[in-house]
Amino acid sequence: MNLAVLVSGSGTNLQAILDAEARGELSAKVKLVVSNVAGVKSLERAAQAGVPAEVLPHKGFASREAYDDALVERLRAAGVELVALAGFMRIITPRLLGAFPGRILNIHPSLLPAFPGLHAQRQALEHGAKVTGCTVHFVDEGCDTGAILAQAAVPVLDGDNEASLTARILVEEHRLYPAMLRAVAEGRVSVHGRRVVISSPV
Ligand code: GRF
Repeated sequence: MNLAVLVSGSGTNLQAILDAEARGELSAKVKLVVSNVAGVKSLERAAQAGVPAEVLPHKGFASREAYDDALVERLRAAGVELVALAGFMRIITPRLLGAFPGRILNIHPSLLPAFPGLHAQRQALEHGAKVTGCTVHFVDEGCDTGAILAQAAVPVLDGDNEASLTARILVEEHRLYPAMLRAVAEGRVSVHGRRVVISSPV
């Protein structure tokens, strides 16, 4: 299955996906990386892996819809079938969702529905949560509201700050996201309303 990864920044999740592919553990091919921000580390990671990468800056588009139309055009041109948001700092519109129904995934650094939106790790610390984690979910019209494929729990330690908690959550993100993309690519994911069932490899 042909995969695109959409990014805006450092791309450690992109790296985990590329590494899984290189190990033969993705069952998908990363055909394209798109960043809405120029000069980010993600673009270096794509180049290093020999994956085509494009910068599609959001400035210059009259609306979110116009931006998403341009994005869909690029994804279609690359033969993309599955889309992974990996630190893509854009609200996406029904234009993109409609072009890839049930085929857009995101990873979020909390146990949703707790702490959606920006700065999820900071929210967990400010709330005094003892456990947080990460969630892989399908993307829908809402903000981090789509059906959940998988979650991993991470303890919040007494001495944590945002950086230390973020780093501990990322370890789990890098394991969980490629595994879930693989499950989708292998057709092992079935959706029943909001319940998502992942079957084991045979
Ligand atoms: C991760 O924490 C991810 O959960 C969130 O954005 C961050 C991206 O990090 N959606 P990276 O660019 O993959 O390092």
